[in-house]
Amino acid sequence: MSEKQENVILSIRNMSKAFGRNVVLNRVNLDVKEGSIMGLMGENGAGKSTMMKCLFGIYQKDEGNIYLDGKEVAFTGPKDALENGIAMVHQELNQCLDLSVVDNLFLGRYPLSSSGCIDETRMKKEAAELFRSLGLTVNLTQPMRKMSVSVRQMCEIAKAISYHSKIIVLDEPTSSLTQPEVEKLFKMMRKLKEQGISLIYISHKMDEIFEICDQVSVLRDGNMVTVKDTVSTNMNELISAMVGRSLDNRFPPVDNEPGDIILSVKHLSTKYAPYLKDVSFDVREGEIFGFYGLVGAGRTELLETLFGVRTRAAGRVYYDGKLMNFTGPLEAMQHGFAMITEERKSNGLFLKGDLTFNTTIANLSQYMQGPALSKSKMQKATVQQINLMRIKTMGPEELISSLSGGNQQKVVFSKWLEREPMIFMMDEPTRGIDVGAKYEIYELIINMAKEGKTIILVSSEMPEILGITNRIAVMSNGFLSGIVNTNETNQEELLRLSAKYL
Ligand SMILES: Nc1ncnc2c1ncn2[C@@H]1O[C@H](COP(=O)(O)OP(=O)(O)OP(=O)(O)O)[C@@H](O)[C@H]1O
Ligand SMILES: [Mg+2]
Repeated sequence: MSEKQENVILSIRNMSKAFGRNVVLNRVNLDVKEGSIMGLMGENGAGKSTMMKCLFGIYQKDEGNIYLDGKEVAFTGPKDALENGIAMVHQELNQCLDLSVVDNLFLGRYPLSSSGCIDETRMKKEAAELFRSLGLTVNLTQPMRKMSVSVRQMCEIAKAISYHSKIIVLDEPTSSLTQPEVEKLFKMMRKLKEQGISLIYISHKMDEIFEICDQVSVLRDGNMVTVKDTVSTNMNELISAMVGRSLDNRFPPVDNEPGDIILSVKHLSTKYAPYLKDVSFDVREGEIFGFYGLVGAGRTELLETLFGVRTRAAGRVYYDGKLMNFTGPLEAMQHGFAMITEERKSNGLFLKGDLTFNTTIANLSQYMQGPALSKSKMQKATVQQINLMRIKTMGPEELISSLSGGNQQKVVFSKWLEREPMIFMMDEPTRGIDVGAKYEIYELIINMAKEGKTIILVSSEMPEILGITNRIAVMSNGFLSGIVNTNETNQEELLRLSAKYL
């Protein structure tokens, strides 16, 4: 390309990338216009993150060219990319949890004072200005560890913006944000666009793509199959481009029939903040019981308390008529409880292990042969899960860290499925999972309920909570503000209940 196309600030030409014999990108092209937002979609493992990492210099592309503002570039690493006007918010947060928000913001580029020391006053001032300009209230000196996943996500986004880049890549930035935060982010994105900045926006959420993107591109199995203006395409067209078939309904029919009460929670309160305040509810056997609420409402805390991770201050939990008092997750697991955590990277997976290890770890006693673990039994179970969950991988011996984000999430699911739990608690289980795979997970959940297993599902996605539950409990500021039948409620009622105790 000798001369710059009109308005195109970034042009990727015939870029390919393989990991060993796994060809992940096959001569892909992408043009991004100045001051516009390009959506990038595709199934889990299609190559979206890899493509962006090649652009950002984290991976070196095997072939192809990248032109920035008409000039060819090839970044040697993230620092090089940042210095040349490209910033990226990664799918998996990579923060130093023991450092403060300010420290994380300036990591690798601490400003120095005239005496050569780190200029902390300036750091705090600049950080405060940045967060104020973005309309965010964050305690700057607190360690990252104390922040919720969503606040941490917003900090990462703020950091990317602070580099004053020409192009900002956002890899599934909203996966852990709630509605008000998503709106804040979109406002920021529109402002950046007006300033002539271009954004590449990766998301599995269709409505977001249509709301915020000017154009949308779709990767399928490492090939760029579609690039369209958002106004001239629609949801079905994008889904067919992504999965190669059309999907008429986003949710399978919820035709399970809940039985008698199996779990009874009475006047539950927690000892440490964020508090649960006198929470009582009953769940039926074979029921899909949803929890909706805003961030900080106490949904995750509730699951953790039931699972024995969090200390109770008061209250009783009855399972199958018997009083339970779990002192830790192990005891909960022995009683048939399982829990998928919202933050898979730190809680759900051993990133240095392979698929077999991660799939079987919660259930080792099942793979014994005499006194020893049977590797072949473990591998067989893993292969079954790979097929059931359609995990995109080279095989059971692949390291978990080389799987795409959504496929890692599927492994977390597999791990707990292997245990065949009776009470299956799920905190945002489909976060980061593509539309096709979501449907399959919903089918799985409904089938489990039909087998008499009880599902407690925390979700911030309104369509999901309304799409696959039997009843929904809404939490507000640590209180349970209401329980409704799913087929008799709507979005307005859930929002109203979630604001009841604010
Ligand atoms: N470091 C790596 N080593 C080996 N294989 C990798 C590595 N990174 C990615 N892959 C492979 O590349 C493929 C594409 O992964 P990528 O992360 O780009 O998918 P994605 O489109 O971002 O998916 P998701 O929606 O799940 O995030 C996957 O099959 C994955 O196994
Ligand atoms: Mg990805």
